[in-house]
Amino acid sequence: MATFCTHPLLFSLIFTFLFIHGTVSLELDVLLNFKASIEDSKNYLSSWSNTSAIHYCNWTGISCTTTPSLTVVSINLQSLNLSGEISSSVCELRNLSHLNLADNFFNQPIPLHLSQCSSLETLNLSNNLIWGTIPDPIFLFHSLRVFDLSRNHVEGKIPESIGLLKELQVLNLGSNLLSGNVPSIFGNLTELVVLDLSQNSYLVSEIPSDVWKLDKLEQLLLQSSGFHGELPDSIVGLQRLTILDLSQNNLTGGIPQTLGSSLKSLVSFDVSQNRLLGSFPEGICSRKGLINLSLHTNLFNGSIPDSIKECLNLEKFQVQNNLFSGDFPNGLWSLPKIKLVRAENNRFTGAIPESVAEAAQLEQVQIDNNSFTSKIPQGLGLIKSLYRFSASLNGFYGALPPNFCDSPVMSIINLSHNSLSGEIPELKKCRKLVSLSLADNSLTGKIPPSLSDLPVLTYLDLSDNNLTGTIPQGLQNLKLALFNVSFNKLTGSVPYSLVSGLPASFLQGNPELCGPGLPNLCSDDQQRHQTFGLTTLTCALISLAFAVGAMLIVGGFIVYHRSYKQRSQIGLWRSVFFYPLRVTEHDLIIGMDEKSAVGSPGIFGRVYILSLPSGELVAVKKLANFGIQSSKALKGEIKTLAKIRHKNIVKILGFCHSDDTIFLIYEFLEKGSLGEMIRRPDFHLQWSVRLRIAIGVAQGLAYLHKDYMPRLLHRNVKSKNILLDGDFEPKLTDFALDRIVGEPIFHSTMSSESPFSCYNAPEHGFSKKPTEQMDVYSFGVVLLELVTGRQAEQGDSLDVVKWVRRKVNITNGAFQVLDPKISNSCQQEMLGALEVALRCTSVVPEKRPSMCEVVKSLHSLGSRSQLPSIEYTACEEDHSASI
Ligand SMILES: *[C@@H]1O[C@H](CO)[C@@H](O)[C@H](O)[C@H]1NC(C)=O
Ligand SMILES: *[C@@H]1O[C@H](CO)[C@@H](O)[C@H](O)[C@H]1NC(C)=O
Ligand SMILES: *[C@@H]1O[C@H](CO)[C@@H](O)[C@H](O)[C@H]1NC(C)=O
Ligand SMILES: *[C@@H]1O[C@H](CO)[C@@H](O)[C@H](O)[C@H]1NC(C)=O
Ligand SMILES: *[C@@H]1O[C@H](CO)[C@@H](O)[C@H](O)[C@H]1NC(C)=O
Ligand SMILES: *[C@@H]1O[C@H](CO)[C@@H](O)[C@H](O)[C@H]1NC(C)=O
Ligand SMILES: *[C@@H]1O[C@H](CO)[C@@H](O)[C@H](O)[C@H]1NC(C)=O
Ligand SMILES: *[C@@H]1O[C@H](CO)[C@@H](O)[C@H](O)[C@H]1NC(C)=O
Ligand SMILES: *[C@@H]1O[C@H](CO)[C@@H](O)[C@H](O)[C@H]1NC(C)=O
Ligand SMILES: *[C@@H]1O[C@H](CO)[C@@H](O)[C@H](O)[C@H]1NC(C)=O
Repeated sequence: MATFCTHPLLFSLIFTFLFIHGTVSLELDVLLNFKASIEDSKNYLSSWSNTSAIHYCNWTGISCTTTPSLTVVSINLQSLNLSGEISSSVCELRNLSHLNLADNFFNQPIPLHLSQCSSLETLNLSNNLIWGTIPDPIFLFHSLRVFDLSRNHVEGKIPESIGLLKELQVLNLGSNLLSGNVPSIFGNLTELVVLDLSQNSYLVSEIPSDVWKLDKLEQLLLQSSGFHGELPDSIVGLQRLTILDLSQNNLTGGIPQTLGSSLKSLVSFDVSQNRLLGSFPEGICSRKGLINLSLHTNLFNGSIPDSIKECLNLEKFQVQNNLFSGDFPNGLWSLPKIKLVRAENNRFTGAIPESVAEAAQLEQVQIDNNSFTSKIPQGLGLIKSLYRFSASLNGFYGALPPNFCDSPVMSIINLSHNSLSGEIPELKKCRKLVSLSLADNSLTGKIPPSLSDLPVLTYLDLSDNNLTGTIPQGLQNLKLALFNVSFNKLTGSVPYSLVSGLPASFLQGNPELCGPGLPNLCSDDQQRHQTFGLTTLTCALISLAFAVGAMLIVGGFIVYHRSYKQRSQIGLWRSVFFYPLRVTEHDLIIGMDEKSAVGSPGIFGRVYILSLPSGELVAVKKLANFGIQSSKALKGEIKTLAKIRHKNIVKILGFCHSDDTIFLIYEFLEKGSLGEMIRRPDFHLQWSVRLRIAIGVAQGLAYLHKDYMPRLLHRNVKSKNILLDGDFEPKLTDFALDRIVGEPIFHSTMSSESPFSCYNAPEHGFSKKPTEQMDVYSFGVVLLELVTGRQAEQGDSLDVVKWVRRKVNITNGAFQVLDPKISNSCQQEMLGALEVALRCTSVVPEKRPSMCEVVKSLHSLGSRSQLPSIEYTACEEDHSASI
């Protein structure tokens, strides 16, 4: 890939060079030429025209100097939705010193030909779609002071020749795909003020030692970039440093003890998420300038000195997930500007003092899982900006102060697992409270009825206390997603609508509660029960045999459909079955409980396995709380999906829906999902089976992309959505849910629930339209899982894409990523599959193969494995496409 980009560039460079020197053009013509290669879809450059009444020095983005003569010195075309090509013709403007093309859609290799702009000092190409490697003769940009290439798709190594750009003051290569070791190139870059190599997660490097000699450096941003090794004492030479961010690397060792007193200009200091240890940097507040301090998720121990109270400007203090002990510094609680205090998961002792009321800006406190012992101070209730207070798993005792929820923005309170006693005060002022957990304390008295008036309360956990009285009827009006009052001493009847759909275990341990589903029926229950039975509906009771196969052979696509207009306690339900299922909505709803749920809830809802009265098993996916399209449109969309007939795509048997919930009924597959299988520690599928799975999935996707009408995108390919039948034949499920829930909801759910999933193609974040190439990328990730035997994502470790990319850049790295559980005799096939997977997960969408090409490539690998015959029809026409 690397060499491919470099040569054509050099060629164009030479070409441009000749061109410039052969022509002397008017600046106006030069600008028009430059514009000619740019695509300006929004017409922002309309003033740039030969017929324009406006002088070109007044055109959008142009600045001129007037002395000694009128000439263009700066072009700023930032954020104008431009694409097309950056032409070197602009270098004919001999006095051009600043070129800013940031925040556009230029999609090309690094425009090396701009090095012909002999006066260029600032080049800002940030946030485009620039790809390829940094060419090694980059020193041609000899006069550059500011070089910003951040937020593009630049890959490969950082070349040593950058060290020859001696004038550089700002070097920003952040948020790219650079990899490998960072060479010692900073010895001559003595003017550097800003160095940003952050968010290049494929770098594997120590921080070059010459960085610590850059004594003019003010910002050093190396976060999330695979740096390892220790911080040398020479770091204290960076006297002018204001922002130091080394977070999310793999740094080890301690922090030099003199750091606090030496780096006197520090405003932001972040070394979180490394493996640093030792004690807290003493003296770090001696100049009072520090605003952000983050040491979280390391191995720091010892106590935090009281001198922290000298940090008068401190806003954020984050020391969570360390081994700190001793009394938590009292002075921190009354800092005038403090907004965030995070200290959870340490071994702190001590108290929250009444003086916390002075922290008038405090927004968020998280101190869970420590050993604080004190009362909850009244002062906390006086802070008007507090929205989160989380202090579970400590030794807080005494009564809750009556004002503890008085902050008008309070939204999360967690005081579970403490030793609080007394009654729960009435909560009237915190109208934004979403979550209240007071579980496992010794609270007594009643559940305050005022909880019913908190409009957005969603999670309420009062379990394991000594609460008495009845459950307030008013709580029925809330949309509680969690309501746990187990193990108290509550009495009386349980409002049915409050607990329907919630596990019965949330009520247990209250022997005197009565109601449906509980051991005790209430005295008035007989009547209630009858009403329920009458109004519950049956839908589509089809008395045909369950003969799916036969129906298919007959070939008729039959829709069994009835809808009912009566109301019931569980809402108005309509159902459409594409197969004769002997099941009622009531059966479905009753059957869908914790016991029948499988796997963890997916992004769009949970899956339940139900046994029908006929003995057949079906999988039911519950899509809840989606504002749904009209019943007719919905039926049309699901019908479209249900008509798909492909052996690698799960069949939709029918669906039921109410106003806000859809149950999609799928065929049941006994082996569960590939994702679950890979997750098991004993995952051990033979290579030939894995290859067959890969080919099956690829065929299913190729069918959706090319064969089926209308053409569909899956949009959620991942190993969890690949089910296996008894013969390990894979079937894709959860496909094209966008058509069911509608694009806006699909989009917002995906981007809120899994914005950083490694199955998402890199363009997922900014691309407006979903594409086949995004499915191909996700498929590539699944293929990587099959080749490596690693789960795509597990906890905090590297996802499989990053892990493989880091390894394959090393000599013989490709062999290291192959699943060691598979015998060497399959190595050639596995390497072939790895190669396909790497192409599918290419950062540049255009470089990814189509699914049809993938089917063919994978199939051609499998000469030794016994493969079934290939099934692609639409793929034939694609035959000429290069692979
Ligand atoms: C601008 O117009 C002049 C005369 O109208 C013409 O000679 C010149 O080629 C035009 N320049 C461009 C870039 O179109
Ligand atoms: C640009 O516009 C300003 C004010 O609109 C005007 O004073 C100035 O003369 C124009 N410059 C040129 C070179 O036409
Ligand atoms: C760029 O285009 C997108 C949609 O294509 C639009 O949302 C955005 O506002 C545009 N930006 C500008 C600066 O016009
Ligand atoms: C533009 O550059 C030329 C030489 O390339 C120089 O003679 C001239 O003074 C410069 N003009 C300005 C305004 O800087
Ligand atoms: C480059 O442009 C981006 C986008 O406007 C901006 O955020 C960034 O600060 C600029 N880079 C430099 C070094 O000024
Ligand atoms: C610094 O510059 C000198 C001469 O210009 C060169 O020989 C040397 O290799 C450069 N050092 C680095 C680290 O680039
Ligand atoms: C950190 O380093 C350890 C060993 O030195 C390695 O096993 C681990 O994968 C590294 N983690 C990351 C995120 O690079
Ligand atoms: C402090 O951190 C916040 C985000 O956590 C950031 O927005 C702000 O710019 C930081 N302040 C400084 C001075 O770095
Ligand atoms: C802190 O950790 C270091 C090394 O991990 C250890 O030597 C030291 O005794 C610990 N100090 C405390 C107070 O636990
Ligand atoms: C509840 O009260 C009883 C005595 O009335 C006491 O023994 C028990 O420990 C209390 N339970 C809790 C969880 O506080």
